[in-house]
Amino acid sequence: MLVEDVEAEATHDLRWRILRNRRAGAPVVFPEDSRAGAFHIAVRDVDETGTGSGAILAVASFIPEEITYRPGRTAVHLRGMAVDGPSQQHGLGRLLVTTVLERLRRDGVAVLWCNARDSAIGFYSRLGFEVVGDGFVLPESGVAHHVMLRDL
Ligand SMILES: CC(C)(COP(=O)(O)OP(=O)(O)OC[C@H]1O[C@@H](n2cnc3c(N)ncnc32)[C@H](O)[C@@H]1OP(=O)(O)O)[C@@H](O)C(=O)NCCC(=O)NCCS
Repeated sequence: MLVEDVEAEATHDLRWRILRNRRAGAPVVFPEDSRAGAFHIAVRDVDETGTGSGAILAVASFIPEEITYRPGRTAVHLRGMAVDGPSQQHGLGRLLVTTVLERLRRDGVAVLWCNARDSAIGFYSRLGFEVVGDGFVLPESGVAHHVMLRDL
């Protein structure tokens, strides 16, 4: 598997299929996608010899954004975390996030945080994130979330 930086557009297909349940017209662009310092990561089906389909199997986006639970600390917001259906539960989400954690540490980022769907809290917990604050429902999706963060 190859973990690489991609343009925001390369995340749209998985955002739509996995996070928007293929809903016609559902938005797949975040206004923050093009914020200064934002970057987008994909896991591609390619091995070290260049063999593989080249398909993008997992994506996530990383947006510089403070979090109220860690005032004054350099923070990055993890958004749009999605793994292709048949590839879920095979370690790709872990691979993507742990690869980026190293990069964020090198860059002096103190906190990585996300609005975790309650159904994904177990995933983020396995990666060392903790739940902070009360749960909330995002109005656009009706999906229950909690803020989760990892101090780096
Ligand atoms: C949630 C998601 C990103 C996890 O990625 P993944 O590649 O499937 O997860 P991994 O295989 O890397 O799992 C890493 C660990 O988390 C666990 N895990 C993965 N998904 C989990 C979940 N939904 N609930 C509880 N634990 C989970 C795995 O069992 C594994 O545990 P281990 O440490 O014992 O091996 C992916 O399943 C997905 O895209 N789901 C649908 C969209 C979604 O919910 N995105 C998150 C929005 S906030």
